Amino acid sequence: VPSVLAAGGGWAGWQWASADISTAGEVSFTDRLYVPPLARSTRDPDGRRVFDLRAAPGRRRLRPGRPTETWGLNGPMLGPTLRAARGETVQVNVRNDLPETTTIHWHGMHLPARMDGGPHQPIAPGATWSPYWTIDQPAATLWYHPHPHGQTARHVYRGLAGMFIVDDPDASVAGLPSRYGVDDIPLIVQDVLLDDDNRLVERRRPMNGVGVLGDQVLVNGVLHPYHEVTTERVRLRLLNGSGARVYRFGFTDGRSFAVVGSDGGLLPAPYETDRIQLSPGERAEIVVTFRPGRRAVLRSHPPDLGVDVWNGRFSGGDDTLDVMEFRPAARLAPSPALPSRLAAAPALAAASAPVTRRFELSGFSVNGRRMDMNRIDFGVVRNTTEVWEITAIDSKPHNFHVHDVQFQVLSVDGAPPPPELRGWKDTVYIPDRRPVRIALRFGEHTDPRTPYMFHCHVLYHEDQGLMGQFVVTEPGQVPQAPPSAHHH
Ligand code: C2O
Ligand code: CU
Repeated sequence: VPSVLAAGGGWAGWQWASADISTAGEVSFTDRLYVPPLARSTRDPDGRRVFDLRAAPGRRRLRPGRPTETWGLNGPMLGPTLRAARGETVQVNVRNDLPETTTIHWHGMHLPARMDGGPHQPIAPGATWSPYWTIDQPAATLWYHPHPHGQTARHVYRGLAGMFIVDDPDASVAGLPSRYGVDDIPLIVQDVLLDDDNRLVERRRPMNGVGVLGDQVLVNGVLHPYHEVTTERVRLRLLNGSGARVYRFGFTDGRSFAVVGSDGGLLPAPYETDRIQLSPGERAEIVVTFRPGRRAVLRSHPPDLGVDVWNGRFSGGDDTLDVMEFRPAARLAPSPALPSRLAAAPALAAASAPVTRRFELSGFSVNGRRMDMNRIDFGVVRNTTEVWEITAIDSKPHNFHVHDVQFQVLSVDGAPPPPELRGWKDTVYIPDRRPVRIALRFGEHTDPRTPYMFHCHVLYHEDQGLMGQFVVTEPGQVPQAPPSAHHH
């Protein structure tokens, strides 16, 4: 039995919630940024690119004092960056050496439901799960994380997450920084609460309605690190890997940057701004220009949550957190100018297209129902375009994530989406009482028995039941109960 399970060891229990948090100007960036290595792969006789992941407990020294008990993939915390090209068939052998069942979900990936890694594909301790699929979607910054029913928040918080970068050699855009670890850097941003013994605090009391909100920020598993910049421009692949916190990234000197990508690929054109907001699960690719020797601090400003009523229970609306520091060298290698066009805009439906389905988020329910592993909520027919309207009505922060597809945001409260939502998305923030319309087109991976998920990516909400299941069918096919459903 791993020591992590021993009584009294490892994980801290309840902790009182604190008031608004600010670390602005108080952080000394003492540790170097860790860049997750690119996962090694082999080519099997069928031509598949094969990766190996092993989930296991570990320890990492996050700050002076005791090392923190963590979970990781191929290392003590987080996992390597998987990378593959459109058209390739990949297989990932995921071995579970944790003391409990988990899953690994490929967030943002278009793939058969049996390979999706949701709650219907459990990996028991000691077992290995080997999904495979052919990548067929634009270049994008995707990610992977556990999805065991009711346990996702805890598994991700302990350190199980990694990036999955998809390349598209036939549509590569010249001028975007793209040397991994040099001028193209993945940044997995996660907040943590550590107790005095450096244990991860997993639950807070009183409950704040969203789960753990940390008071410190990890980037790639390092507490507020610094990174030495060697080129004039750097692409940052930002991932909000937190369970609950919404970040609003900007720089302390007010500089602007170019947003070039969203969840599912490049935007139609770069968009210059000084703030980018990401709710849990969302990604943005930004390109930042640096001046020789001029340091820059990435800060998360109070997010715009669109929620007025907090009843004093949610501390996270006014937090300001210093995330990391960039330290440009005295001489920087020149970078090419950014291209003005990047990718085709999603064009599944017009903003005026009729709504096919409505989803009302409230408490831990969608349309009044909580997640049931044995209930398929609906079926969608392959190669049809649907328009979904999602509304949150309980004055809590929610977002909405759909498996298998990248979608187009048609409108937010009736207005056209802002520039950062005009690319492909798989997760979108749902501001209170302001309906968000999205267009989705489900592809060729039909299976009337194995569901995909849709859910709020505030992981505590998801775990509590703010999730549902759908299947993709052939025309005329009827959804059936999942094979893993238990009837007793
Ligand atoms: Cu990132 Cu269903 O999850
Ligand atoms: Cu939610």
